[in-house]
Amino acid sequence: MEEKKKVVLSLIQPTGVPTLGNYLGALKNWVMMSKEYDCLFGEADLHAITVRTPPAELKKRCLDMFAILIAMGLDPEKSTIFCQSHVPAHAQLGWILDCYTQFGEASRMTQFKDKAAKHADNVNLGLFTYPTLMAADILLYNADYVPVGDDQKQHLELTRDIANRFNGIYGDFFKVPEPFIGKKGARIMSLQEPDKKMSKSDTNQKSFILVTDSPDVIVRKIKSAITDSEASVYYSESKPGVSNLMEIYSVCTGKTYEQITDEFAGRGYGDFKSAVAEAVAEELKPLRTEYEKLINDKAYLTECAKKGAEKANRIAGRTVNKCMKKIGFWQY
Ligand code: TYM
Repeated sequence: MEEKKKVVLSLIQPTGVPTLGNYLGALKNWVMMSKEYDCLFGEADLHAITVRTPPAELKKRCLDMFAILIAMGLDPEKSTIFCQSHVPAHAQLGWILDCYTQFGEASRMTQFKDKAAKHADNVNLGLFTYPTLMAADILLYNADYVPVGDDQKQHLELTRDIANRFNGIYGDFFKVPEPFIGKKGARIMSLQEPDKKMSKSDTNQKSFILVTDSPDVIVRKIKSAITDSEASVYYSESKPGVSNLMEIYSVCTGKTYEQITDEFAGRGYGDFKSAVAEAVAEELKPLRTEYEKLINDKAYLTECAKKGAEKANRIAGRTVNKCMKKIGFWQY
């Protein structure tokens, strides 16, 4: 008998065009895993409204993100690509899991603390229960692996705790998922402040690269990346700027840090930065070309989203019904 393929699931918030950090930390692994596993990938638009967004902008970003997911190489015929709000079971299970999560546990989430500090004028309950909705996203599909960047590790640990707790009360029900975090690229740093994670919400545009940036823009941003005064390319905690560029170069080219150090021995940062920019532009070129084609084909994107939602609804609807039965809801 053929062995059942492992299930892989991950989502990204449609809060704008993804950065090189999103891409190298998560999205590139999604594409890689989609060749081997039974995959579901989504855009977390319910999560995105924890930050106020004008309605037209939210809609545009959702369509943009959908186009990017396909443009980067996910095949909608093979993987289930969907929009979270098209699958009501996410919100349903999210609420249920809120009731199996302690206030203290949610309060310990570092992303909640960071985001609450950043959006002090809008510390809404959604921001606080964000990780339980994320747990619902994962547990609805019995995911084995969840490819994410380093910053989502704590949320994955909470998801595992919630699943184990529920299973402890009602008997084995949820699959307890494993995070999949790449050895390299899991935490790409800001180009301007390399002690901070690269993020598209950074007010300094030069601190991040967007996956749809043109080669010219990529060159400009990498040329202005903060390094140090040593003019020597090697990986070290004491050289966060250079090490970050080495990590980016390494993930794009497959070269090891030793090979990179040898390649640039005796050469200055100018040469190094040119090579990094070229490698990044080359890596993102197919995505950008494909995105420009797809974004004008709204009918095709809508068709794909419908197909994805149908598949996702079938699985998620079944899980939430079974889960409610376990809990003892009146069903007929
Ligand atoms: P989001 O939308 O902030 O980011 C999407 C993915 O990109 C990774 N990432 C990074 N990786 C490396 N370096 C960086 N600088 C960097 N910045 C972001 C993130 O770790 C993430 O994998 N809560 C999630 C979305 C989500 C989700 C889920 C993920 C909702 N439901 C279920 C997995 C499973 C988030 O906000 O990611």
